[in-house]
Amino acid sequence: MTTHKHSHAQWGSRLGFILAAVGSAVGLGNIWRFPYMVGQNGGGAFVFTYLICIAVIGFPILIAELMVGRRGQSNPITAMSRVAEQNNRSSAWGGVGFMGVLAAFLILAFYSVIGGWGVNYIVKVGMGDFAGISADAVGNVFNGMLGNAKELLIWHTVFMSLTILIVAFGVTSGLEFASKLLMPLLGICLVAMVGYGAFSNGFSATLDYLFSPRFGDINAEVILSALGHAFFTLSLGMGVMISYGSYLGREINLLRTASVVVVMDTGIALLAGLAIFPIVFANQLDPSHGPGLIFITLPVAFSQMGGGLVIGVIFFSLLTFAALTSAMSLLEPVVELLEEKTPLNRAFSTIISGAVTWLLGIAALLSFNEWDSFKIFGLGIFDFLDTLTGKFMLPLAGLGVIIFVGWFMHRKIIREELHLGNTGELIWQIVARFIAPIGVIIVFVSQLLELLNYQLADILAYFT
Ligand code: TRP
Repeated sequence: MTTHKHSHAQWGSRLGFILAAVGSAVGLGNIWRFPYMVGQNGGGAFVFTYLICIAVIGFPILIAELMVGRRGQSNPITAMSRVAEQNNRSSAWGGVGFMGVLAAFLILAFYSVIGGWGVNYIVKVGMGDFAGISADAVGNVFNGMLGNAKELLIWHTVFMSLTILIVAFGVTSGLEFASKLLMPLLGICLVAMVGYGAFSNGFSATLDYLFSPRFGDINAEVILSALGHAFFTLSLGMGVMISYGSYLGREINLLRTASVVVVMDTGIALLAGLAIFPIVFANQLDPSHGPGLIFITLPVAFSQMGGGLVIGVIFFSLLTFAALTSAMSLLEPVVELLEEKTPLNRAFSTIISGAVTWLLGIAALLSFNEWDSFKIFGLGIFDFLDTLTGKFMLPLAGLGVIIFVGWFMHRKIIREELHLGNTGELIWQIVARFIAPIGVIIVFVSQLLELLNYQLADILAYFT
């Protein structure tokens, strides 16, 4: 895209948009974060809660964000305040968009570190580092990487540079072309890996683990994590979908488009779960291993299967690609903002915002090694960024958007945007006004209480 200060660019086609939105949604969230969240939050109990959060909260907020973007035709902040003005509301609603853009910086910083792990693993697998070694040894390779700041820095830099390059080339050419080609391939690769898992002796345990929830395991922590993850995986609460919606032509059906995004995103996450847990169970690995889960389990499988080296390289390449399409969507709102608000052109806006994110990423990766004793609220920098954005900023910004759309947008506009019948409109009203916002508020308040509790305990401990 050349600079479009006045006429806002648009997607080449509906398919192009869907692929790019799916490209944003499908990323490390589905393949890296989802399985380890499942493992840390009791398996089926998490999967069940997550699916509900996606359906009743994520889906409507996704529609709301796309709607604001298309109406506002601009970066998230301007779009929010512009749409607010169109509805005779204060332009202070732009603040919601601002929080989103800020969250983008913070997320991309740690996202790029994990993206770097992905690139690093293409090389490691390809060089045969895992060939024929034990599951323990695979774990050691991973821990060795975490402890090595220089190694992490190199790959974080590689990943961030790739992101900057792609974004600098612009919306239609960069995002659309890449998504069209490689996202479907990722799906195929995952299906093949699930097929492999289906013949291993961990598969029935996996089905049981993922799909027969023990409802007693659903506690506040599980619900919070599931909601946070729903936001993360659908790229909500950050203005990404507002940005993308602003490139969306009038003729496109929002409801249908949002459904495709949700189904694809959830499908990929479930496939990732079905591919990874058979390996966990067949090798007696620990499902609740945390962020290292896929980097410890998958190489075990690749080292055992025939042709594992080639498949492993393909898999980690596709993972990296999926991470890149998400990363560029994280950078996009910031770039769009700088481009519209400052005299900087697209390339410069990209380089500057990318460089700042890169610096913050360095702080995040150091928290795995050199700075591992530095804590904020008891969390290392990496975990702090993840928690602050996932559990607080995304839900809060998403809440702002859905409250605005549910309560303050003229009905006429909703009608023009969504083309629902009377019943459909009623359902939309109930979901957008009550179910989605109340759901987020409940989760959010209990989150705050938990945090307060934690702080209070600290303060009390100090005085007694
Ligand atoms: N959804 C992406 C993933 O699952 C990550 C992501 C991209 C994101 N853009 C976002 C998360 C915006 C939150 C907000 O990997």
